Amino acid sequence: KLPVIENEAMLNYAPGSPERAKIEHALKEMIANGPVEIPVVINGEKIFTKKIATQVNPSDHKKIVCKYHEADAALTKKAIEGAEEAKARWESLPFNDRVAVFLKAADLLAVKYRYKVMAATMLGQGKNIWQAEIDAAAELCDFLRFNCKYAEEIYQQQPPKNSPGTWNRTEFRALEGFVLAVSPFNFTAIGGNLPAAPALMGNVVIWKPSPGAVYSNYLVYEILVEAGLPAGVIQFVPGPAEEIVGAAISNPSFASLHFTGSTHVFRKLWKDIGNNIDIYKSYPRVVGETGGKNYHMLHPSLDKDGVRHAALQTIRAAFEYQGQKCSACSRVYVPKSQFADFRRELLAEHAKIKQGSVEKFENFSGPVISQFAFDKIKGYIQHAATAEKGTEIIAGGKCDDSVGYFIEPTIILTTKKDAKTLVEEIFGPVVTIYVYEDAEFAQTCKLVSDTTPYGLTGALFARDRDSIVAGSNLLRNTSGNFYINDKCTGAVVGQQPFGGGRASGTNDKAGSSSLLIRFVSTRSIKESF
Ligand code: ALA
Repeated sequence: KLPVIENEAMLNYAPGSPERAKIEHALKEMIANGPVEIPVVINGEKIFTKKIATQVNPSDHKKIVCKYHEADAALTKKAIEGAEEAKARWESLPFNDRVAVFLKAADLLAVKYRYKVMAATMLGQGKNIWQAEIDAAAELCDFLRFNCKYAEEIYQQQPPKNSPGTWNRTEFRALEGFVLAVSPFNFTAIGGNLPAAPALMGNVVIWKPSPGAVYSNYLVYEILVEAGLPAGVIQFVPGPAEEIVGAAISNPSFASLHFTGSTHVFRKLWKDIGNNIDIYKSYPRVVGETGGKNYHMLHPSLDKDGVRHAALQTIRAAFEYQGQKCSACSRVYVPKSQFADFRRELLAEHAKIKQGSVEKFENFSGPVISQFAFDKIKGYIQHAATAEKGTEIIAGGKCDDSVGYFIEPTIILTTKKDAKTLVEEIFGPVVTIYVYEDAEFAQTCKLVSDTTPYGLTGALFARDRDSIVAGSNLLRNTSGNFYINDKCTGAVVGQQPFGGGRASGTNDKAGSSSLLIRFVSTRSIKESF
């Protein structure tokens, strides 16, 4: 039996608390030490390729957080060959010995490296202290630990029935070949989970981290190594996506893609994998979590407290981490009878938001990740301000990239059902509100469902049970994670398995056994006596 698995307790960083002093110290030390150099790591060997890229601090883009050495197609091939050599030993280790590596890594993270990984997430990815705690400390520990529990459930499944003279067994083998993990900038926890989940199941993994998260991801990698991960099991391969991913998916041993990122890239990779299908030994398992256009839907049955609650939750879901969670709320549908209250509450909360460098803990809102993201989000705001009839900005809207990539939390109001900011994914601190006639709840649910291709998260705020039931049914296909009277962000590992359908992904649910089962190839064994 595994130890009892619980969610990592979250610290609150109140002024004067020991954890506050520790994170302040970790930030100071990281800044004082200056940019670190990060290698490619293949078969346990650190490789300094001299082809160097940088990760900048998005709160102040003149500051370099790390310099990392980039891999290329030849090194990716070497990484794959090394991983395949490491595989035989790794997959034949007893499950408990693989588990021990990940449980130990979670403890090392929680106790020894928490503040360092958080500091790298704050400085490198622009998360404020609480968002960093939720992500780089709590959620990552939870993924590492809960995966072990879910894997155990798979391996300990009820054995099949036997008939006289036969003994039937089920064997959960690792995939034949290697897994390619392509991770995003926005969650250090996802960075860790994408390689760790398949590795736990006995696979070997080529891990290409996001250029926006190389520093924190490398620290996670080092923790796994310190916890006893054998050389070659996960190869750390940062660098240009097209070259590294291209080399990996054109290799006959490619067995699976474990991806979190944009819908566009995921679709392209899926097509490329499809085009290569004849070269592979097996049909690759393609597992992806991609974009979203997540919503809050308010029902006319809400009372004043309910409306206020929905407004507060909207501020959090839309603007925490600058709207750069895949789950972030970016559209809200409000009945006409409640709009005046909702607007007042929303604007009052919006007025309290402080924005600036995440090194200052009073700032709720930090920067967006990059110049590319800044330009794209700014384009949407400008479009709403100038080019779309019936659409106005009612709060925020300023964009300033002179020091960091700062975009004010922005609230847009539109009367157009298909306004660009209401239906397209923006991935920034921008939320658009649409006001509907109270009698048109059902039609509006249809609008929610039909005006975007996505299906990641959504929330229904309603008081009476009939409306909750009706709304839940009408909104059935709009999300993989559905919230009733709660914001559409903040899934907790072990509590709400996470993932969406439609254009938002394969809905394999991070933080569950249904994700892990994608990384095993099952063998049914019948032995006759
Ligand atoms: N799992 C993250 C959330 O639910 C993305 O907000």
